Amino acid sequence: MRDLTEKPNLPAAALFVDCVRALFKTGLEGELLWTKIKEVMAPLLEDQGLRSAANSWPATVEAAPSVKNLLFYEDPDFGFVLNATVRKPNLLTNIHDHGDKWTLYGLITGNEIMHRYKRTDGGDPDRGPAVIKQLGSHKMAPGDIDVVPPGAIHQEQAGPAQSIAFIVREAKGGTFTQHHFKLETGEVTCNTGPGLIPRSL
Ligand SMILES: [Fe+2]
Repeated sequence: MRDLTEKPNLPAAALFVDCVRALFKTGLEGELLWTKIKEVMAPLLEDQGLRSAANSWPATVEAAPSVKNLLFYEDPDFGFVLNATVRKPNLLTNIHDHGDKWTLYGLITGNEIMHRYKRTDGGDPDRGPAVIKQLGSHKMAPGDIDVVPPGAIHQEQAGPAQSIAFIVREAKGGTFTQHHFKLETGEVTCNTGPGLIPRSL
């Protein structure tokens, strides 16, 4: 296994890391930064090298709630990471957020539906009961990138075929608190996010 702070071998992924690092170096933050990262992520999702590598990735989400992510890279200076998920067909995740970190979720293969929710009771983020309202849903096809801002509550629903997504996160899972929500009871559960499976890219 390679040192995960070394740039990926895959040329398109190494170029992407260079582009993301250059954006961090400009001092941009928040929505401005992550909108730019989304722009440079689009060609990576189209890359044939990435697409053929993805065909050999193992399933990371067999059944909710046992969610895992592949981990390809952790930036030694800016802390962002490259992950992936490989979902079984028709899998519906629980309702969750990604804590106070930005996430870009780009579909490589398959189709998914993203459901969006909002917490409306104004309570302590780490405690329930929470009042959760559904805001809407949108479909995702290969090449689409879903931007998940800090605290955005959502749920991923895999389509009738396996779906594979490439993910850029602001920080490595396990280093910050995330939340699961139960719609019916308002229960809020804190967790440290998906388990990580180191993998070379
Ligand atoms: Fe998510």
